[in-house]
Amino acid sequence: MMKSLDALLAQSTFSPDDLLQLLKTEDPAECEALYAEAFRRTTAVHGNCIYFRGLIEISNVCVYDCRYCGIRKSNRAARRYTLTRAEILEAARYALAAGYGSVALQSGERSDPKFVDFIEDVCAAIHRMSVEEFGMTEGCGMTLSFGEQTPQTYERWAQAAGNRRALRYLLRIETSNQALFAHLHEGRCGAQKTWQARLRALSDLRAAGYQVGTGVMIGIPGQSLEDLVEDILTFGRLDVDMLGMGPYLVSHGGDMVSEGMMEHKALMRLTRNMLAATRLALPTVNMAAATALETLEPGARALGVLTGCNVMMPNVTPQRTRASYQLYDNKQGTESEPDSNVRLEQELVRVTGRSIARNRFGSSLHYRSRNAGLPAD
Ligand code: 5AD
Repeated sequence: MMKSLDALLAQSTFSPDDLLQLLKTEDPAECEALYAEAFRRTTAVHGNCIYFRGLIEISNVCVYDCRYCGIRKSNRAARRYTLTRAEILEAARYALAAGYGSVALQSGERSDPKFVDFIEDVCAAIHRMSVEEFGMTEGCGMTLSFGEQTPQTYERWAQAAGNRRALRYLLRIETSNQALFAHLHEGRCGAQKTWQARLRALSDLRAAGYQVGTGVMIGIPGQSLEDLVEDILTFGRLDVDMLGMGPYLVSHGGDMVSEGMMEHKALMRLTRNMLAATRLALPTVNMAAATALETLEPGARALGVLTGCNVMMPNVTPQRTRASYQLYDNKQGTESEPDSNVRLEQELVRVTGRSIARNRFGSSLHYRSRNAGLPAD
């Protein structure tokens, strides 16, 4: 039975049918009411702060061939790079000097010993820098996003990162529709990624003490609204601490060009509906406004905040390599000058009325309430 939107927005728990109805919202005034309620609840639970993580895209070298992704292995047109240790430290220094309190390290997927050692070394070096140069007693927060690894690797990196209280890992499930997941990750020689392995990785990460983040792409060709509802239910079942979700954007370096993508306006609406519905269903998680949103529409990361996001990951990667980390076409921020992050901050504060947290870990309330007794941060 259809409920009125007003009735739905007064609820604190949501059935699958309720979530489906939220995702279907089309009327502009109703959409605005939905987004405003998501924003209001975010403020009530998380306060008025946005947490920043300085995003460093360490390398676009990747051993996998995910069909949606522009830096997949068989895209010959991608110019491959790996930042040097010094470049990574310089980028981290920029983020810490700006008071972000936390860095996010990401790259294409590799798990060879040389790579694992390199990341371990870099994590330890950033930790040391945050303590010695910036006087952060416990060290800065660190979010890692390096795909599926072994439990041993998660543990080594956790030790190197040095601050168990602000240790995080992002690993999106991409979609909870297992047939679609299989289709997205099919290579020339069959399945390269399995849904089971992805779930195992998330549980290994939890066991290793990470705050665990996941997410999906929204508007993937072949994805239904029911799939998105199931995504939200899956996030709840996995008991995740953090979420990052953005629109699916076609990539000419990928292998899905012929499948097209949703039209701009409908994709924008569906993305915001999904963010808002997720925020209503999962009030205590940290939710990041994705770069893909900004690519779909300049300025839209602020709209993400107005729809329930409370985390932002400004790109602090050195200019020389930014354009090469092209997961999808026309990725935003590849040409912006060094002070663009300062403008991003000013614009965010102006448009959303939020303030930007300085020198805080910004761990999700969800994580902190699972670990009662943790000091506030
Ligand atoms: N459109 C949107 N998001 C994408 N990602 C990769 N390729 C695309 C694309 N074409 C996202 C995936 C991945 C994250 C690092 O980037 O969700 O987990």
